[in-house]
Formats: sequence, C-alpha cells, structure tokens
Amino acid sequence: MSTHTNTQKQAAKRINTQYLSAERVAEIIQKKGIAACLHGVASYIQQDFLRWNDFDKCARVANHSHDGVIELMPIADDTTYAFKYVNGHPNNHRFNLPTVMAFGVLADVATGIPELLSELTLTTAIRTAATSAVAARALARPNSKTMALIGNGAQSEFQALGFHYILGIETFHLYDIDTAATEKLVANLTSMGIKTKVFNSTREAVKGCDIITTVTADKTNATIITQDMIEPGMHINGVGGDCPGKTELHGDVLRNGKVFCEFEPQSRIEGDMQQMTADFAVTELWQVLSGKAEGRTSDAQVTVFDSVGFALEDYSALRFMRDVAIELKMGESMSLIPVMSNPKNLFGFIADANAKSAAPSLASVEAAIAHVVNAAKVAELTC
Ligand SMILES: NC(=O)c1ccc[n+]([C@@H]2O[C@H](COP(=O)([O-])OP(=O)(O)OC[C@H]3O[C@@H](n4cnc5c(N)ncnc54)[C@H](O)[C@@H]3O)[C@@H](O)[C@H]2O)c1
Repeated sequence: MSTHTNTQKQAAKRINTQYLSAERVAEIIQKKGIAACLHGVASYIQQDFLRWNDFDKCARVANHSHDGVIELMPIADDTTYAFKYVNGHPNNHRFNLPTVMAFGVLADVATGIPELLSELTLTTAIRTAATSAVAARALARPNSKTMALIGNGAQSEFQALGFHYILGIETFHLYDIDTAATEKLVANLTSMGIKTKVFNSTREAVKGCDIITTVTADKTNATIITQDMIEPGMHINGVGGDCPGKTELHGDVLRNGKVFCEFEPQSRIEGDMQQMTADFAVTELWQVLSGKAEGRTSDAQVTVFDSVGFALEDYSALRFMRDVAIELKMGESMSLIPVMSNPKNLFGFIADANAKSAAPSLASVEAAIAHVVNAAKVAELTC
C-alpha cells in the first residue's frame, strides 16, 4: 500500500509541468539582467549548434492565411523534445497586437512528459538576437563598431542589445517607415546608455556601417536592401525575410555575397534565398561554428546571414530559461496532465478530481472559522 502511494507520489512529482508565464520570464530577465540572458542564450545556442547531428530536425510546419502565418517548430535529441508555436501577422499592430507571439514546451523523450510550458514571445526576441550575434561573431569583421537597424519594432531593442553586449557594437543607425517605432527604440536604447543616430531612409542609415540588420515586418517580397547600398566587408543579418513571399534583400545582394543559413531545407523555402535557384550555394552556420566550413575569407567579402529562426534555437532558449528559473527559484508548477493511481482508469480521474475539488480544503475551513469568530466578536462589541 505504502509502495503504491510512493509510486503515485513519484509519478505526481515527475508529471508536474513547470510553467513560465510572460510576467515570470520578464521577472527572470530583470533579475538575471538582459546582458547575462543574451550571453547565456548565445552560449546555449553555440553549444547546441556544435552537436548539430544529435538532433532529429525538420523544417517547420506552416499554416498560411491572407494576413499571416502560424507555425509549429519541433526538434528533439535523445533526451529532450521541444516545440514552439509561433505566428507572424505583420498587420496585427492595427489591432494593437504584436506581430509575433509564441509559447513552447520542453518534454522528456523517454516518457513524453511535458516538463516545461513557457511563454516564448520575449524569449524568441532574446534567442533571435542571440542567434544573430552568434552568426555575426563568426562572420562579420571582428572590429565592427556600427550597425544599421532597419525596422524598429518589437525585436529591435533585443537585436541592438545582442550586438552591443556580444559583439561590442557601439553605435546604431536607425530607420523605420514608422517614426514612432524609431522614437521608442531611441528612448529605450538611450536609457541604457547606447548611442543611436536616426536617418530618413534605409539608404542613408546603412551608409558606412559594418553590419546591417533588417528586421522589418511586411508580408511581401520587399527590397529593403539593394546591391547599390552594399559596401565591401559589410555583414548583413537578414531577420525579417522568414516566410514564403516575405523577403527583404534583393536577389543581387545574395548573388554578390557569401550566404549562410540555419537549416538549409527550411531556409530555401522561407529565407531571402527563396528567390534563388536550388543550386544556389549556401553554408549552414553550424558548419562554420564547428570549423567544418569557412566563414568570411577576406575583409572585403560581404557576408549574409539569411536568418529565418530554427527550432534548435528555441530548444536552447527554453533550456536556458528553465535552468535560470531553477537557479533563481522562480519556477511555478502546474497540473497539465492527470495524475492517476491506475493510469488505465482515466475515466475514474473525472470523479476523483471532482471529489477533491468538492472536499473543503484546510485553508477554507480555517477561513470559515476565522469569519465566525470575527462575527461573534463584532456582535459582542455591539451588545
Ligand atoms: N528570423 C527570425 O528568427 C525571426 C524571429 C522573430 C521575428 N522575425 C521577423 O522579424 C520581423 C520583425 O518582427 P517584429 O516582432 O519586430 O515586428 P514589428 O511589427 O514589431 O516591427 C516591424 C517594424 O518594421 C517596420 N517596417 C515595415 N516595413 C518597413 C520598411 N519597408 N522599411 C523600414 N521599416 C519597415 C514596421 O514599421 C515595424 O515598426 C518580422 O518579419 C518577423 O517575422 C524573424
């Protein structure tokens, strides 16, 4: 009997899902510090990319609609499975909603237990910036100091901070068609002591910069960057072209540079390179990080990181947030999966759960007693 109860208790403990809400993740970032989070996620991403072949990988599954896309991004190694749910709706600002919203799960491969359910909107912004910085650290000229940031929306602060803390970028040249978005970015970066310069066009903003980051949102084949804006030695971090029919770089920019991506089968469908033929040469980032392929080969070469966002980055970011939540003792647990004494009696769980919720808890009995005692005291005083 006691063995049975212990087994049940162990199962209940194992099956408990940790939960990280958006507010809790914001608190974690505040406590740990944004710089430490960006460095931490970058380091988890770097480590995971170095064991690329340990992962069961696939291109994400996308459901497209007129105004956007909803995607599922799964990945697993021998022990841990992860998935992210993420959308991309560039017109969401009309409803005062973010373009990108996400949540995700870490699960135990051996049993399928969902061990963590977490927000991933904030975490995606951090992981995207960390990935951009990991790629630029391997591909940009090492002495890079200035970066143009085209598109000053939700991702932009994270991109700037990622490049500031991880690469030492000092000055950011900003442009967005929405001047209010740029004003918000200037205010947020200035409050952190980071230098910004505002420009009236992409062409003016990118002039003389070491790195260009494009992080615009528009469900169209845009040409934010054209070949005549490119200077020798620039590194381009193309973040916003991440869906079929949604690009930012003119084809000539890709043709004239050396192009790198995350997971080639996905990037050929979703990246700026969707404009290129199937034989267009591209190198996966993990190969450069692990020394299997060359990155930049000269100071004058133009490098392009055609980022679309890959499931492995979310796997890394989820692991980082889970570990920090444990370190800071900030985890919350939730009952997502029914705990049963007989796992074959799922039906019985309905009656058990109702019986439990019908039974008065100790706290509610104590509160009721306190209420009666107080009422008696009040009656005594008024007599
Ligand atoms: N590659 C990745 O891993 C990854 C991850 C997250 C988001 N994204 C993509 O990054 C993009 C930005 O995301 P967000 O959350 O910051 O969106 P957002 O809507 O908050 O911001 C996008 C900004 O781009 C601006 N913009 C649109 N067209 C422009 C143009 N022609 N020139 C200059 N600015 C322009 C908009 O005014 C807006 O301020 C989206 O396309 C999103 O899908 C990619």
